[in-house]
Amino acid sequence: MNEKVVLRMEGVTKTFGATKALTNVDLNICENEVHAIVGSNGAGKSTLMKTLMGEHKPNEGKLFYLDKEVTGKSPLEMQNLGIQIVHQVLNIVGSMSILENILVCNPPMKAGMLDWKAGEVMVKEVLDFIGMDFNLKQKASTLSVAQQQFVIIARALINKPKVLILDEPTSRISLEETEKLFLIIEKLKASGTTTIYISHRMEEIYRICDKISVFRDGRRIETRITNDFTEKELVSSMLGKTLDAFFPKIKVPIKEEILNVENLTYQDKVNDISFNVKAGEIVSLVGAVGAGKTETLGCIYGILKKDGGKISVDNEELTKSHSAKKGINKGIALVPEDRALQGMIGDRNIMENTSAISTKLISKFSFISGKKDKDKAQQSNDKLLVKPNDIKYIMKSLSGGNQQKVVIGKWLLENYKLYLLDEVAAGVDIGAKAEIYKILGELVKNGAGVLLSTGDIEEAIGLSDRIIVLYKGKILKEIDPKTTSKNEILQYIMGGGSNEEN
Ligand SMILES: Nc1ncnc2c1ncn2[C@@H]1O[C@H](COP(=O)(O)OP(=O)(O)OP(=O)(O)O)[C@@H](O)[C@H]1O
Ligand SMILES: [Mg+2]
Repeated sequence: MNEKVVLRMEGVTKTFGATKALTNVDLNICENEVHAIVGSNGAGKSTLMKTLMGEHKPNEGKLFYLDKEVTGKSPLEMQNLGIQIVHQVLNIVGSMSILENILVCNPPMKAGMLDWKAGEVMVKEVLDFIGMDFNLKQKASTLSVAQQQFVIIARALINKPKVLILDEPTSRISLEETEKLFLIIEKLKASGTTTIYISHRMEEIYRICDKISVFRDGRRIETRITNDFTEKELVSSMLGKTLDAFFPKIKVPIKEEILNVENLTYQDKVNDISFNVKAGEIVSLVGAVGAGKTETLGCIYGILKKDGGKISVDNEELTKSHSAKKGINKGIALVPEDRALQGMIGDRNIMENTSAISTKLISKFSFISGKKDKDKAQQSNDKLLVKPNDIKYIMKSLSGGNQQKVVIGKWLLENYKLYLLDEVAAGVDIGAKAEIYKILGELVKNGAGVLLSTGDIEEAIGLSDRIIVLYKGKILKEIDPKTTSKNEILQYIMGGGSNEEN
């Protein structure tokens, strides 16, 4: 094959203090391909992309764009050359409108002033291209996380890039939106754009990527055509060893009811839903964004005030405005979806973040870390394979997936009766995912109940005893994952089988 190389890295090394994030990386990205970059949390994927974009200066090595050396160019210069990135962290300004958020990096100018009229035309065009319809004046903070993700994608596409980098774009969008994103990538490919795609979901890699480059510990291990790479080989290449059981499902006796939700209603988001979770059970809520998954969990936990219905835990009804603190007292744990905002304190170290559940409720800023806290933090780091395994490491210096492991670890290692887990394994690598699934298995074996909200269909099927499909705030169907195919479930998620039009 005679492919034209668009981006080339030669011998790139990048260190942060004592951490060697990239070691002597050579990489070619060819024109018009969708090129996957895969590897465990902390393998160096985001650092590689930031180095490509000029956000990090490499300690050694050279970068080339269309055979011209671009080492040392600034992010703005790289953008002007036609390279755009959608970062792993959602950099949206909540107080600004959707229009402003999309135009912020590349505003069209006229006589030294921002040309709003031209800007609006450009924004409408790009939203049309990605199939999104927004009220441009609306503040970005009023959007769901998934919608915000598409605003950022629109921002990256506004100047019609030649190369688009997507760093874990699907970790906060649902199955339905993932399909939408894939359509966008296909359309971009048809119009000659090259895409670099980072994800921890094998299914996505095999669906849309032409080539796969595997990274481990900051080194590029290999690059192969997707069709020549079996999933088993790929996982071994990423981990450096084989993975035996990805969904280590153990049979557990299902016992008494722990959670009972009856006719729950919340604004126009959750509409009269009833279901239960029993001890020993893992139940998954699936549905598109806007289906009401996160709101359902929020009402149960007490961070949202329900408008109607009954929620009982262990046969005891929770009051209408039970608080999150009462939630913890009653043995309910909620691992929220938006971890960066709700779940972690970036300037503190791992241990302080691990011990912050109880202390945070007493006093927001008092971190009293005793030996017990230290042991707990260490245990959580060990179990979830946090890298680097150093509980003194500052949270914001960890890679995205490793931050996530710390935040969820502190909940999973306490003894709760009911676990409400919102996208618990999103952004976590395949090795640690298997560990999390193992821990969930142990929790239900010990008599807990787990309610998952997930956008990962394989996870829902592989892990749950029952799957509840939500559609527009209602329960569309309850499914036995053992007897229902993945495609059928996808159809339900998109509203198939409901009596409603569209
Ligand atoms: N700004 C930083 N300061 C210090 N260390 C950093 C910084 N950014 C990344 N690192 C370290 O560099 C290594 C690579 O991190 P990187 O974010 O590139 O991983 P990743 O492959 O993107 O992982 P993930 O799948 O979790 O997103 C990690 O050990 C991380 O802790
Ligand atoms: Mg990353």
